[in-house]
Amino acid sequence: MTDQTLIILGATGDLTARLLLPGLGALLAAGHVPGLTLIGAATEDWDDSRWQQRVRESSGGSPATRYVRADVTRAADLRTVLAAADGPPAIFFALPPAVTARACEALLEVDLPEGTRLVLEKPFGVSAETAAALNSLLTRLVPEERIHRVDHFLGKATVLNILGLRFANRIFEPLLNNTHVASVEIVFDESLALENRAGYYDNAGALADMIQSHLLQILGLLAMEAPISLAAAEFRDRKADVLRATRLWDDDPAACSRRARYTAGSLSRLAYADEPGVDPHKQTETLAEVVLAVDTWRWSGVPFRLRSGKALGDTRKEAVITFKKPPRVPDGLHGCDQPDRLRIGFGPDRISLDFNINGPGDPFELDPVSLGAEFGPGDLPPYGEVLRGVFDNDPTLSIRADVAEQCWRIVEPVTAAWRAGKVPLQEYPAGSRGPADSLLDG
Ligand code: BG6
Repeated sequence: MTDQTLIILGATGDLTARLLLPGLGALLAAGHVPGLTLIGAATEDWDDSRWQQRVRESSGGSPATRYVRADVTRAADLRTVLAAADGPPAIFFALPPAVTARACEALLEVDLPEGTRLVLEKPFGVSAETAAALNSLLTRLVPEERIHRVDHFLGKATVLNILGLRFANRIFEPLLNNTHVASVEIVFDESLALENRAGYYDNAGALADMIQSHLLQILGLLAMEAPISLAAAEFRDRKADVLRATRLWDDDPAACSRRARYTAGSLSRLAYADEPGVDPHKQTETLAEVVLAVDTWRWSGVPFRLRSGKALGDTRKEAVITFKKPPRVPDGLHGCDQPDRLRIGFGPDRISLDFNINGPGDPFELDPVSLGAEFGPGDLPPYGEVLRGVFDNDPTLSIRADVAEQCWRIVEPVTAAWRAGKVPLQEYPAGSRGPADSLLDG
């Protein structure tokens, strides 16, 4: 591999310290980017040694690195940053979306070195229209295959394990269709509350923060047809097919969505609306649910229920495939009518298959059993996995332009119905299980 330069715009920020540098550290420790030059750029008046200390503390490594003080929305400053690069740069925008857009506009006035890659964080725009505008700006800078729109869920080993679970054995795949599956749930309920992220979160909310991005990617993997290979074109085409076919259940945003925000409770002293930096009139939701239809031959008629919430007492991070009942249980067998379920856990990382068999004791009485397997952690944390794709020039795990737009297209009618007041903003105490009238199964 040739020498590489990673330029982090927004180097002094929280994302860089909490996720990016630890991911990079894991990659360095695994020997993936031996000739790396790292350049940190931000407006703060830091010097090389303060930055190097940040890199050491957060990444656990000490790559060749320097700090360039720069206003990254000015072309002249960006030229100075790029002049410090050694080898084809990957420019990581660890910046709020509005600043990223301005930095990209400034880059139009800069001659970008051959092989430059652009790495962007979510959210990619705030609607299909704004995502399309950002996408067309980006493709004026570099070709699409050099644009990495990061969704760190695609770097999670368990999310990627969905591919092995589905396509590397003959057991499950023949059952994963509308003949056998009653419903699919993708749930990411967190105990974390706002964590001082009001500046970002109060403009996003649970629908954009989790469902439009991460959970739709999981849906893409769960529902896609088998790709011929994991080459970027194959994998991303199959995922795009599914997301293009996805729409709201019955095209009825009011009936198939729920929104709520937490009030004070055991997991948060403050109600969301009272958290510093939150504008309560924005009515930002901290919990969102939607029911989607995947209108393909395979999945037509099967509801996909997606939900994510913060400050919930019952942490639940999993995809659950619920199977239809057997056509007929012989008379004489009785006692258990729970449906069969395949669960894929995203922390703890495990799968389990729950089904009914004759249990111990009375052989005519059915009992539920569960076959399970734990997944060990992946070699790399999600950001390490995503960065590996950037350094290898492999966009497989990046979100393609059209998919970013499709994911907004799917949720936009919900946002519109919420804005029009067609779905009430419910409340739930922090630490509870969320509002009572959930759209989930149980
Ligand atoms: C982030 C969201 O993208 O993903 C957070 O902005 C969320 O709100 C987080 O908590 C969950 O991901 P992980 O990997 O930390 O479980």
